[in-house]
Order: sequence, then C-alpha cells, then structure tokens
Amino acid sequence: MSLRVFVPRDAAALALGADTVAGLLRQAGNVEVVRTGSRGLFWLEPMVEVETAQGRIAYGPVGAGDVPGLLGVLPTGGAHRLRLGRPEDIPYLARQTRLTFARCGIVDPLSLDDYRAHGGLKGLARAIETGPAATIETVTQSGLRGRGGAGFPTGIKWKTAADAPGGRKFIVCNADEGDSGTFADRMLMEGDPFVLIEGMAIAAIAVGATKGYVYTRSEYPHAVATFDAALDVARRAGLLGANLLGSAHAFDIEQRVGAGAYVCGEETSLLDSLEGKRGQVRAKPPLPAHKGLFGCPTVINNVISLASVPIILTEGAAHYRELGIGRSRGTMPIQLAGNIKYGGLFEAGFGLTLGELVNEIGGGTLTGRPVRAVQVGGPLGAYFPPPLFDTPFDYEAFAARDGLIGHGGIVVFDDTVDLARQARFAMEFCAAESCGKCTPCRIGSVRGMEVIDRIVAGEQPEANVDLLRDLCETMKFGSLCALGGFIPYPVMSALEHFPEDFRPARREAAE
Ligand SMILES: Cc1cc2nc3c(=O)[nH]c(=O)nc-3n(C[C@H](O)[C@H](O)[C@H](O)COP(=O)(O)O)c2cc1C
Ligand code: SF4
Repeated sequence: MSLRVFVPRDAAALALGADTVAGLLRQAGNVEVVRTGSRGLFWLEPMVEVETAQGRIAYGPVGAGDVPGLLGVLPTGGAHRLRLGRPEDIPYLARQTRLTFARCGIVDPLSLDDYRAHGGLKGLARAIETGPAATIETVTQSGLRGRGGAGFPTGIKWKTAADAPGGRKFIVCNADEGDSGTFADRMLMEGDPFVLIEGMAIAAIAVGATKGYVYTRSEYPHAVATFDAALDVARRAGLLGANLLGSAHAFDIEQRVGAGAYVCGEETSLLDSLEGKRGQVRAKPPLPAHKGLFGCPTVINNVISLASVPIILTEGAAHYRELGIGRSRGTMPIQLAGNIKYGGLFEAGFGLTLGELVNEIGGGTLTGRPVRAVQVGGPLGAYFPPPLFDTPFDYEAFAARDGLIGHGGIVVFDDTVDLARQARFAMEFCAAESCGKCTPCRIGSVRGMEVIDRIVAGEQPEANVDLLRDLCETMKFGSLCALGGFIPYPVMSALEHFPEDFRPARREAAE
C-alpha cells in the first residue's frame, strides 16, 4: 500500500519550498502526494502530514534536506526532530474554532468529492430546500456581519437586494484583499475554493441573482489559478450552471483580476472597475443593493462573509450566533502578521483580547524585542500601544477606542518602530492610492505629509500639531469614502499614544 502524504500548495508554503519537498517525496516512489491548502501555521511551513492508523501526523517546517530522513519515519508517523504530532493537537490549532476554515489544509482544494466528504454542499441543499426568505432569515439570525471591513449585517444587505425591483441581479465577491497583513481571502481561495462558490450560490438563490463575479487581487496568481480551476470543476459537476444541484436555479460565476489599486477594494470603485472603467468611488445613495453592477441590484460581499454562509445554513443560525460577544457574533479569521513569532491565521469566536492574540497566541515579536505597537484593521486602522491590549476583538470595542478590526489583520511592531514615520506613511499611502474624486483626501493627504515633516523637523511643533488635528478632522468628515475618512485614525493614534516620536529630541537620540 502506498503512503498518503499531504503537502500544502498555498502560496505561503510555496514561498518556503513546498513544491521542492512535494517533488522529492513523489520521486521516492510508493508515495501518493496530495496537495492541500495551508492550516495557517506559517512558521511551520512547509508542514507535511502523513496518514497513519492514528490519523494524520504532521512534520514541519520541512526543508528539501529533511526529506530522505523523513521517508524512513513517515510510514509509521514515527519520531523525528520535526515531528509535531497530530495537527489538531498543536496548541495554535487546538485553541481555534474553525468554522469558515474547517477544511482548509485538510482537503484537496480541487476535489469536489473531498469537499462533499467533509460536509460541503449541505448548506446549498438547505437553501434550495427552504427557499430565499428562510435563507435570508437564517443569515440574519446568525448575526453575520461583513468581514471585508465595514461590518455591515449580511442578512440585511441580502434582504435589501432581494426586495429591490429589477430583472437582473448580481452577486459580487470582493477578493481584492488590500489590507496590510491580511491573507484570509487568499488562503481560503487556495485551500477551499468550493466553500466560496457554495456561499455565492446560496446568496444567488437568496436574492434571485443568476450571475456572480469574483474580483480578485492581481498579486494573487495562485488564488486566481486555483479558483478558476475550481469553477471548471463546479460547472462540470452541476454545482454551477442552468440547474444548481439539479434545482430550477441558474447561476454562474466569472473571476476578474484587478489591476492593483487599493481603492478598487472599496465596493463602488470595484463595481466601476468590473464595468471596465477606471476604479473611482461612486457617491451613495444609491446603494449597490439597489443600483450596483451595470445599474442592477447587487450584493457585494467579502470572500470570508460569503464563505461563512454554508456552515451557517448547515448547522443553523444558533450554532454560529452562540459564538462571539456583544454584536460581534460567530468567528473571525484573525491574521497575525508583521514582526511576530507565530504568524498565521487564527480563527476564533470574537472576544479574545488583543494582548492574548499578540503575546500568548502570536508569541510576541520575532525579533524577541518588546512589542511597542500593533496596527489592527489594515492601513486605515489605528495603532494600539500595549496599555490598550485589554481591548477585546469586537467591532464596537475597537470603535470605542478609535480603532477598527477591519478584515482582521494585526501587524506587530517592536520597539524600533518610529510612529511618526508610520503616520507619515499613512498620509503617503493615502496620496498614492486616492482615487482623486474628493478634495479632503486628494489634497489633504499631501498636505498631511508636509505637516508631519514640519512637526518632526521641529518647525513650530505646537501650531503644526494643531494643524494636523484640524486637517484630520476635515478628512474624517469631508471625505467621500473611508480611504480619506479613516486615514486620520492611524495618524491620530500615532500622535496620541506615541507623542514622543514626533519630538525632534527623541528622534535625534534614536538616529
Ligand atoms: C479604501 C477601501 C478599500 C477596501 N478594500 C476592501 C477589500 O480589499 N476587500 C473587501 O472585502 N472589502 C474592502 N473594503 C470594504 C468594501 O467597500 C465593502 O464594505 C465590502 O466589500 C462589503 O462586503 P462585506 O459586507 O462582506 O464586508 C474597502 C473599503 C474601502 C473604503
Ligand atoms: S476619500 Fe479618497 S478614495 Fe475616497 S472618494 Fe475621496 S478621493 Fe476617492
């Protein structure tokens, strides 16, 4: 009997040599190599798993030079210095509640049989059986909120599009994933693409859409290829097409690749870009749910929002809703990145504190130096200092501290970080990525850089700090979208929590 070995084909594992390891294992003969997604424990990649009588046993991080030695122990899952034991017993995984990522790293991403064998397609069958109204009610009752950043209730968005008059309706999946330190969408599309297809098909049934688009970040070639291949498999199996799973519902999906603009992740610019125009923010109203793609009612949701729906329909709203705290229900795939020892994906119910996530789960910094700041929620998110690490991971708790959880990315910095530079970078990023439609963002970001430069140079610091505050207020309240409207948060949090970095004396001492 040949040995079944699992080697990830996720981009993070590939970057660390997974293809070479898989090739060497195959050459050994009598080894069946199954390529999977990643479990999301990036410091252990490439993590190789072998099927044994006791279940899967993991080894990692496996380098090419480790393969000859491993071949001797793999048949029994035996002792080796890289042996990690059963993957589900590794504390980083054991502490998680994997709902959306339940199959990621386990199944062959392009095997629909594997997907079915691991619980796939039950949610779609439920939606077909119970119909649009009951499906929308279940999603509403689950408490699911958009995982792309704004946290808008998904069920309400779906109901708005379902109720909107119009013959043609669309489902658009936002896979632009522009936030710094985030990779959940990519990991899911590479590791379990059918769950996204299933989630989109359920959304289509719920609102009466027949066509869906996935707008994918251009820097994600592996996700693009895997998702396209999954669409082909789904079409051939009748999971997409004229009769979804043999029902009367018709639905198909096309993937489009963006050209690499952060603002094209904003839903209305994304729609413009999908329509073949330059990606520029549209004024709201009308909401996309009323008048979206090509002027038709459109549901636009993030990858993780859509991919969370199948498990909600399979297990019921209560199962999802009972996890989490306050108005943040269910699980969040949190992405630990930057200068962190155990970087990766950690899916858990809302409510863990920032300190638990960064210090206990993430193990502090990779450099071993003290953590000085973390930026949560991408480039528009605030910098949090350690005294605020008691903040629970929850939409409202972060908002109460002038922060946001966004798409769930946490980027860690040690004590060598210069927060004045980070604040300037926020303005620079805004200037580079601004769509140019409104003045506070287009011009304000450039003026913001200049004011910060004057502050750190010691030119009339008090007057310039006042000016910066004033400018940030104008951007916050005068910008058309959240790019210009939220850039003040990283800037002001840096100034608020790390004022010493803006003083020339400290800067000279540090240089
Ligand atoms: C500048 C900017 C960039 C954004 N980038 C993304 C992105 O990359 N992915 C995403 O899902 N949402 C992004 N959003 C949020 C979207 O506008 C929108 O809220 C989201 O796609 C809705 O889906 P959800 O309700 O499932 O979160 C961005 C918003 C702004 C203002
Ligand atoms: S805030 Fe910036 S990105 Fe948003 S509409 Fe205005 S100019 Fe465009």
